[in-house]
Amino acid sequence: GEYAGLGEVGGRRVLVRSDLNVPLDGSTITDDGRIRASVPTIAELAAAGARVVVTAHLGRPKGAPEERYSLRPVAARLGELLGAEVAFASDTVGDSAQQTVAGLADGQVALLENVRFNAGETSKDDAERGAFADQLASLADAFVSDGFGVVHRKQASVYDVAQRLPHAMGGLVSTEIEVLRRLTESPERPYAVVLGGSKVSDKLGVIDNLLGKADTLLIGGGMVFTFLKAQGHEVGKSLLEDDQLEVCREYLARAESSGVSIVLPTDVVVDTTFPSGDATPQPRVVAADAIPDDALGLDIGPDSAAAFAEALSGARTVFWNGPMGVFEVEEFAAGTRAVAQALTGIEGLSVVGGGDSAAAVRTLGFDEAAFGHISTGGGASLEYLEGKELPGITVLED
Ligand code: 3PG
Repeated sequence: GEYAGLGEVGGRRVLVRSDLNVPLDGSTITDDGRIRASVPTIAELAAAGARVVVTAHLGRPKGAPEERYSLRPVAARLGELLGAEVAFASDTVGDSAQQTVAGLADGQVALLENVRFNAGETSKDDAERGAFADQLASLADAFVSDGFGVVHRKQASVYDVAQRLPHAMGGLVSTEIEVLRRLTESPERPYAVVLGGSKVSDKLGVIDNLLGKADTLLIGGGMVFTFLKAQGHEVGKSLLEDDQLEVCREYLARAESSGVSIVLPTDVVVDTTFPSGDATPQPRVVAADAIPDDALGLDIGPDSAAAFAEALSGARTVFWNGPMGVFEVEEFAAGTRAVAQALTGIEGLSVVGGGDSAAAVRTLGFDEAAFGHISTGGGASLEYLEGKELPGITVLED
């Protein structure tokens, strides 16, 4: 059997970098979206007779093993989804990895332990990263890059290993790139972008870039309080990035002069006790320009949710990254639910980007098929939209 760009893979050991970074509650996977998205490439290679060696990370361990970041539960889930046993190696490049790979028959799949348990993976030192990439590469005859969520990282299993083995882009990465290209190259108008999540500082590049491209920018989530403060409103105990106030003011001014409409919430859901152990939330709706001193903003309010839905209703292209509130708590989920609902009605292209918004869509019970595309990448899709080079993509093109 052949795999795009690699030619015959039957009988060969193929290292696949997947993004299996899923949310866990203890050892229970709370959203397996990224594992499911990774299955087709792995299954295709296995069906072609390859000996598939999957490498991936979980969380951000500091270059040494930590039980809570073990990929073992992920191996079990991957096996269930593949309908075949997945051999698990308890290290990434050591004895267990070597023996596990040596024991694979054609068409079988193994998962290596968290690649970030090795300091070489994320090292900024090229030589240290390269030495680790040499070890990883020695486990395989070819490399398939399929971890879209990490292609913005210049890390050994994403970047350096591709320089050491015959390589190809996996099916998931090519689908993701194709969709993002449609968002950047002549998107159908009106083009609306919804941004949420906690930090403005994570979204600066994308706001900067989209101010020249989108027609409407809707802002919610924790980051909105810095915008509200920039407009001169008090935000109580809500999240605030003081050092971003100036840049928010500048964006608001630039939007006005360039005819891009920035929509901010006019009301917010606040709580004065959250989060305090087991106490039940005491949500209250207040005007966005009258947030009490002791209140913490946790969601956009009902008027704003309706206004956001209305603003999205005529759009032909929508990109959404970041929840509108603390959607994990039912009392603060309505804003995120309203945005998700609005996206399901879009005639045109609707893209949900980001680990958190993608997880929100699924945990709130929406049918994935109702969206144009649910991306597996958070930071990666934002960096693509910022117009940045993605090291994990450029290395494949060289
Ligand atoms: C993600 O969760 O966005 C990806 O898995 C990348 O993880 P990272 O931000 O820890 O590199």
